[in-house]
Amino acid sequence: MSEITNWGILATGKIAHTFAKAVNSVSDARLYACASRSGEKAAEFGSLYGAERFYGSYEELAADPNVDIIYVASPMSCHYENVKLCFEHGKNVLCEKSITLNSAQLEELISNAREKKLFFMEAMWMKCQPAFLTAKKWASEGRIGEIRAIRADFSNPVDFDPTDRLFRPELGGGSLLDLGVYPISFVTAFLGFEPCEINSSAYVGGLGVDMDEAVIMKYPNAFASITSGFDMENENRAVIVGTEGRIAFDPWFFCTDTVRLFDKNGKLLEESVTPHLCNGYEYEIKEAQSCLSEGLPESRLNPLSDTVGVMKIMDALRKQWNFSYNGE
Ligand SMILES: NC(=O)c1ccc[n+]([C@@H]2O[C@H](COP(=O)([O-])OP(=O)(O)OC[C@H]3O[C@@H](n4cnc5c(N)ncnc54)[C@H](OP(=O)(O)O)[C@@H]3O)[C@@H](O)[C@H]2O)c1
Repeated sequence: MSEITNWGILATGKIAHTFAKAVNSVSDARLYACASRSGEKAAEFGSLYGAERFYGSYEELAADPNVDIIYVASPMSCHYENVKLCFEHGKNVLCEKSITLNSAQLEELISNAREKKLFFMEAMWMKCQPAFLTAKKWASEGRIGEIRAIRADFSNPVDFDPTDRLFRPELGGGSLLDLGVYPISFVTAFLGFEPCEINSSAYVGGLGVDMDEAVIMKYPNAFASITSGFDMENENRAVIVGTEGRIAFDPWFFCTDTVRLFDKNGKLLEESVTPHLCNGYEYEIKEAQSCLSEGLPESRLNPLSDTVGVMKIMDALRKQWNFSYNGE
């Protein structure tokens, strides 16, 4: 691979625009190509961000020999098929969250990636953010003692729109895969992937998708509580409470540049502020690129075992709600 990483963007929806700006901000990254189901849309997107090639089908992008890695930005229900296509053409993949609809799809994609020795990572950008990494460091150094509780909320009110993927079960809509995946990834990063008990409840709405949910996970010595949803407003904060203090994130906890360490009397001990270099997506781009240049098959900051652990918890939650996606 050359020193410049040639990125291909598969699907040109909302997040693809944000990601394209981030690619263009990273040295050694080039937005080389993009693909849409419509040639016109691909040309419009590609011209906007200076891509060299625009394709009117995802297959053409996957087949382009000059593409080093493909960022998959389609709706959740399409990820399995789209990632498989990329692997069939020998392409490394950074795939948007949630990576698949369920564990069965994820396990199959991971075994495809391993068979072909391709890089595969979920674009859980939170885990590459400086604020998150600082909190991990403080926790691992014992700065807050033993963790006893974590609270994390992510809600983003959205007006009902039957055409929006969020409200459409056939596109993997619903708040769990869209928003809930963040607080679950957050909690598990600090407390692990095997809670001894999970209690949860969800409201179903839209066209039959989970709109809001509340989850309590019990660990041997700690509790985690999570809410998420697009039918309610929230502070979108996260706090990790330990026996010696706490770590508190500013809202929007998964991408904030600010995190604070307090002692057990509430005294501020340290504040870490790391302004984004672009829009916050640059960190996952740099992580994927550095893994590719070192020949690593998966991310160090967001390894596949973490993605599998989170997906298993999301499967378990949906089982509690008796909720399945089309075709499951
Ligand atoms: N990391 C983050 O902060 C973040 C934020 C938002 C979303 N996301 C994730 O990014 C992914 C896309 O979200 P988005 O908000 O960008 O969605 P979106 O605006 O609806 O765009 C999705 C794109 O996927 C393509 N697509 C392929 N098959 C489709 C189908 N059957 N129906 C509709 N679109 C289809 C379309 O692109 P073409 O027409 O070009 O083919 C469409 O524009 C999701 O996995 C979501 O969870 C991540």
